[in-house]
Amino acid sequence: MNYDELFNIAVKSAEKAYCKYSGFHVGASLLTSDGQVFTGCNVENASYSMTICAERTAIFNAVSNGFTEFTAIAVAGSLTDDFSKPCIPCGACLQVMSEFCNSDFRIILADGVHKLSDFMPKTFNEESIR
Ligand code: THU
Repeated sequence: MNYDELFNIAVKSAEKAYCKYSGFHVGASLLTSDGQVFTGCNVENASYSMTICAERTAIFNAVSNGFTEFTAIAVAGSLTDDFSKPCIPCGACLQVMSEFCNSDFRIILADGVHKLSDFMPKTFNEESIR
């Protein structure tokens, strides 16, 4: 699985987005350390704040299937069928990524390969509450 393939899976997952309020389709594909891929899309709600992002859907999908070690996530988001503009993960999703992933974790966007630490150099984590 290379990063281009992973990004294409994210684009495909965006087709499943339940985004009737924003119209913004997001798909995420998460690569486990043993090479499996778990996907997610954003799922919106009439009570707007109950919406969940594609990235967290993918992570919770993987964790609920017994996987907690990840190497990369691809994210694709768009109002149209053009996914060429990068969709940077929101702060809540970065925080959830930081629970499971180290700073080397790769975030694959439309503009290339990033690291979790590019977007979140310092995190609140389990060390913070010891
Ligand atoms: N959204 C995601 O799924 N991931 C992101 O990284 C940013 C935002 C969703 C939430 C909402 O359904 C829509 O995009 C517009 O904010």
